[in-house]
Amino acid sequence: MTPSTIAPTEQLLREPLWRPDDLGTPIPDSPHAVSACLPTWADNIGYEEQDTRVISRLTTGYPRFVYNQLCRRLFAECERRIARDGEKCLVFPAESAARRCVEFVRRRSKHTAEVHEIPEFGVWAARFPVEAAGAAKAFWQHSGIGISSRQAAAILEGRRAGDAFDAQQAIRTRVANCMHVDPAHVWLFPTGMAAMFSLQRVLQRRRPEFRSVQFGFPYVDSLKILESFGAGVHFFPRGDRSDLEQLSAHVESEELCAIYTELPANPLLTSPDLTALSPLAREADCPLVVDDTVASCVNVDVLDVADVVWSSLTKFFSGVGDVTGGAVVINPDSPHAGEIARLMQDDWEDTLWPEDVAVLEQNSRDFPQRVHTINRNAEALADMLHEHPRVAAVHYPKYSTPENYAPHLRSDGGYGGLLSLELIDPERNAPRFYDALRVCKGPNLGMNYTLACPFTILAHYGELDFAERCGVSRWLIRVSVGMEPAEQLIARFADALDATPPPS
Ligand SMILES: Cc1ncc(COP(=O)(O)O)c(C=O)c1O
Repeated sequence: MTPSTIAPTEQLLREPLWRPDDLGTPIPDSPHAVSACLPTWADNIGYEEQDTRVISRLTTGYPRFVYNQLCRRLFAECERRIARDGEKCLVFPAESAARRCVEFVRRRSKHTAEVHEIPEFGVWAARFPVEAAGAAKAFWQHSGIGISSRQAAAILEGRRAGDAFDAQQAIRTRVANCMHVDPAHVWLFPTGMAAMFSLQRVLQRRRPEFRSVQFGFPYVDSLKILESFGAGVHFFPRGDRSDLEQLSAHVESEELCAIYTELPANPLLTSPDLTALSPLAREADCPLVVDDTVASCVNVDVLDVADVVWSSLTKFFSGVGDVTGGAVVINPDSPHAGEIARLMQDDWEDTLWPEDVAVLEQNSRDFPQRVHTINRNAEALADMLHEHPRVAAVHYPKYSTPENYAPHLRSDGGYGGLLSLELIDPERNAPRFYDALRVCKGPNLGMNYTLACPFTILAHYGELDFAERCGVSRWLIRVSVGMEPAEQLIARFADALDATPPPS
């Protein structure tokens, strides 16, 4: 097993991938990279429009959104074995995952779909007509339970995996120490979405008839999970005081399955008032579930108010961008803890691929130190942008509802590495600024290197009007700040702002 080295990250800190010629280059330099360079605004639109100029350059991408080429080769191998003309396959590491895909495809597309075991590969395939490929892809994206590119590579090369029990325990302990709980309360998953998908199933099993609440505009697939599986969701997109009042009234009239929220939210970096949501959840006798991915447990402690916390370990915890992971942490002091843990025990399957676990364990050894450096850099950059005459808004926990973020800040914590920008005259200036910006450009966040993307375009291209109604501009540029020297970063952003015309 060869754990990733930190070298690709250092290379990106020195020489970011930002030029038009870098289109499609994996970020970082690995066949398992979870990002690929989309250096211009037009490239991002081209990606969304499935323009072959862009798509033909992508060998990797965010693995829930772009099938890694190793996975594609494995799909083709399985198709050779089991698919008929006009049929496609996706591959899953567990039978239950393939079954869930097939159920979703049948329900969403009204086409037939079947599960097949592929014994020689030790995996399960979902087989469906090509007309249902869109539904199957939606499942792959929302659920995060598709096969990993390392597992696909091992199968294609005829390798067997070693054991990663110790590495898995080390990750659990690392997450547990960060959250100040016993490792027995931590559950690991192959992606952040797989963690939330499992949690949603578990909570829905407690209360099968009741709908959940999503409080605040969340990461795209979190809302999709609540909309697509289970009894449904009430969406309170602003997550502000007025939404809180409406939710209060709602709790009186309807029983709920769970209240989900993010602290802070991606991409608007607003924080909900958890100290008000927590008693509401108690009153409704349902768990308050918080996604702390964007702040990370190094910066915030939400376990004093949340019943369950979940997180994508793909982001700050890993920092390299060559592996995915997710965690659910059950608050041992929650009145719901025992029941949720029992149901989680029933639902959980070890589908983590040992080589992925080894890489994630290696990457996360210096997680807290990296987050502290990133905090300082992001704050320096946010302060500069906040004062800049060509910037209309900086979304960052220091400026967006700081009164709701502050109560959860750890004594040595900060505002994290994520900020979003809106420019003056954005239709003209956002593409110019983005194209001129000399930092790595592609999806993902929480990396050791700075990474920018037109987030609304990438995550909500099919629902831009909906996103704008929820207060998320289609011209928004999201920046995940890395560990480059702060002065260098500030100079690069100032130069890109100079590429936009001054306000008249
Ligand atoms: C806030 C937040 N939560 C959860 C996720 C999902 O995590 P993963 O991509 O590891 O499935 C993301 C991914 O971007 C995210 O930004």
